[in-house]
Amino acid sequence: MIAEDLAASSPYTNHYFSSLSPALLRFVPLLHRMHAGPYGARFTYVELGCGQALSLLVIAAANPGATFYGVDYSPAHVARARRMAELAGLANVHFIEKRFEDMVEADLPPADIVALHGVWSWIGPETRSAVVRIIERHLKPGGIAHLSYNTMTTWTQLVPIQRLMNDHAERGVGTAEERATQAMAFVEKLLGTNLGYFKDQKAMQKWLEHIRSGDIRYVLHEYFVRHWQPTQHSEVVEMLQPAKLTFVGSCDVIDTIDRFLLPPDAVKFLADVPQGPLKETVRDLLRSNGFRRDVFVRGPVPMTPAEWRALARVQRFAPLRRRDRCPLSLPFPVGKVDLNPGTFDPILDRLADGPATVAEIGALVGEAQDGVVLRRLVTLAAAGYAYPCAAAGDVDPGPAARFNRTIVREIAAGHAHDILASPTLGAGVRIPSSRIAGHADGTLPPAAPGTEAEAELLAERRLVQALDVRFAPG
Ligand SMILES: C[S@@+](CC[C@H](N)C(=O)[O-])C[C@H]1O[C@@H](n2cnc3c(N)ncnc32)[C@H](O)[C@@H]1O
Repeated sequence: MIAEDLAASSPYTNHYFSSLSPALLRFVPLLHRMHAGPYGARFTYVELGCGQALSLLVIAAANPGATFYGVDYSPAHVARARRMAELAGLANVHFIEKRFEDMVEADLPPADIVALHGVWSWIGPETRSAVVRIIERHLKPGGIAHLSYNTMTTWTQLVPIQRLMNDHAERGVGTAEERATQAMAFVEKLLGTNLGYFKDQKAMQKWLEHIRSGDIRYVLHEYFVRHWQPTQHSEVVEMLQPAKLTFVGSCDVIDTIDRFLLPPDAVKFLADVPQGPLKETVRDLLRSNGFRRDVFVRGPVPMTPAEWRALARVQRFAPLRRRDRCPLSLPFPVGKVDLNPGTFDPILDRLADGPATVAEIGALVGEAQDGVVLRRLVTLAAAGYAYPCAAAGDVDPGPAARFNRTIVREIAAGHAHDILASPTLGAGVRIPSSRIAGHADGTLPPAAPGTEAEAELLAERRLVQALDVRFAPG
């Protein structure tokens, strides 16, 4: 994004993204048997383009031993992020209001993790070079970089339309929101002609309906920018070369299980494509994957089998959803997949009581091979039921409790947050906005005994307890 972009005049939405969790980012190299990243609770984490920084604030509250820096050139974003950090009394998160292009060495310390979510596809070549320079300058050897971006796979066809919408809005009158709305109505009319580029564009029509009914703040930042550039994975790999980054895997762990993504013939076809950028692109194309969440390491070192085993055994997983919301019939991209209840129910039952390590789960289900246990947990992570979480330790629950109380106050003030910080998870846990205050004050209305509503309430309470979600008094 650049200062003259229409989007720059309107603050962006403020959502939590679980892919920014440090525990998840550290898990990805482990899954791919690479040494990387910090192992302990003390690390330095930088988010570039943090926006209003809800994600960064949640993970800072949930990882009080670590230090977090958020960089964003929007004063409105930084002001809001700082205010929330102050309200929650978070001393371990700092914000820098600067353009990436203007950053100097002294702005940031050496970092263990540098992450960018929702930034790379919306910035031009100069800004991308500035990002690479920052990573090159600050990411420690062995450090982890995370970048999400739109791929060419599904977005390329929209490039002329995005440019047209932005041109129309830049020449329009009224507020940024009004101009964006007028530009979308203009494209709707063009689609109505059913001529030339607009002929039989059913997918484009669906996309337009979708964005016209969406949050205008999101739509503005997503489409009303001068640089809007979907990129192929191989291009990103190349652009990151000066920062000496090597791709290790995806934060979407389902991406490591091809049979959940593609039909058997395609899995076989893909198996014959050599590992590397080509394979990643072929997979994106075969499954029409429009968005990637890549994890890179600056100098990954392969683990020996013994090193991998030692680290995998102590990897903890936590429940991410209420136990009653974990059906074993799953709508994966390949279609419906039914997991074996005999294999997965005991693991889900155990996780519902709180995090457990691979070794603990293995002992519980009588499976001696750590690789097999880990694969089952990764399957549950792919389903969105389990989550790799931080190692057990003496985590001060105070900052998360204060942050969660701040969320309660923000909801009372009209903000629609649905996220709380869990020091056990080292990340955020989603709870419906309408019930957060009830959990905080113990005032959730009791449900009639024996009803579905009571089962739901108990399952949610169990999740909150398992993840050690607390609230500061008041
Ligand atoms: C689409 S928003 C994403 C915000 C947040 N990461 C999220 O996903 O919710 C992109 C953010 O990058 C910031 N940004 C864009 N270009 C920038 C630049 N050149 N320097 C610093 N920040 C920039 C914008 O202000 C905005 O907050």
